[in-house]
Amino acid sequence: MRVKIIGSAAGGGFPQWNCNYRQSRAARLGTPGVHPRTQSSIAATADGTGWALFNASPDIRQQIAQAPELQPGTDAPLRSSPIRAVVLTNADVDHIAGLLSLRERQPFAIYATAQVLATLEANSIFNVLDPAIVPRRLLAPTEEIAICGADGHPTGVVVESFPVPGKVALYLEQKGDQDADFNSDTGDTIGVRISGTDSRGAVVYVPGCASIDGALRARLADAACLLFDGTVYTDDEMITAGVGQKTGARMGHIAMSGEAGSIAGLADVKIARRIFIHINNTNPVLDENSPEHAAVKAAGWEVAIDGMEMEF
Ligand code: MLT
Ligand code: MN
Repeated sequence: MRVKIIGSAAGGGFPQWNCNYRQSRAARLGTPGVHPRTQSSIAATADGTGWALFNASPDIRQQIAQAPELQPGTDAPLRSSPIRAVVLTNADVDHIAGLLSLRERQPFAIYATAQVLATLEANSIFNVLDPAIVPRRLLAPTEEIAICGADGHPTGVVVESFPVPGKVALYLEQKGDQDADFNSDTGDTIGVRISGTDSRGAVVYVPGCASIDGALRARLADAACLLFDGTVYTDDEMITAGVGQKTGARMGHIAMSGEAGSIAGLADVKIARRIFIHINNTNPVLDENSPEHAAVKAAGWEVAIDGMEMEF
């Protein structure tokens, strides 16, 4: 199994197009230790040729351009792609908008929960991916599912999905019922355990998570590698930065720091390697010279960067 982080930033990317907060500015200026990042996606392959993407980010075209292994080979047919499937972990814009860039009648399969499939179904723009060419398949929770291409041929990538505390996508929130569907674990947001058929270990990918409970800790135990929601360092970070009104909790994202944060919540869970991913442009860990970056490293975590790879 080979897993490649093709987009390590949260929605908006880093720098974000309309943001002049010091971090986005530093990324734009090429400040040492502040690396630009594209939006939330990873890719996995079991055989080195066919790939499953996990989430399709608005930056997918750029991500493919930066990854030769995701491009048509020089000897490949006139129309081809090594991308055999896309697995979605929720219906957020940063996770599904890239599907629209995968049109052009190229066969691949989409895997998602019933809720996320319903969102694709309800938004007719996704019909640019003709279901006769791009089948949509149910990712039933807590079952091991062999990810197959559109032709039904297994990629060798195996996924087990599980609901995590989260919320519906921002554009699906009910007006006037602001507290509905927060911190629910009914499948609006999932985590995925990714392994091969002859697996010697698993990567667990959880780009969005509102809180850590016993069920989640049990799920994450013994992972060879955890890629976990690193949206914000402190819950009120976007407010303090002056760029927004929302806390991490209100967006369905647990903070890294603090007693209720992910670093503390997972400290005693046995995980061989732990990496923060889906990092928002306000998060100070994006600056490698910040005390927060040092604190995260001291706690045994890594901070994802685009192009990072792991093999197991
Ligand atoms: C999130 O992770 O909270 C979403 O990507 C936010 C958004 O859709 O802008
Ligand atoms: Mn997101």
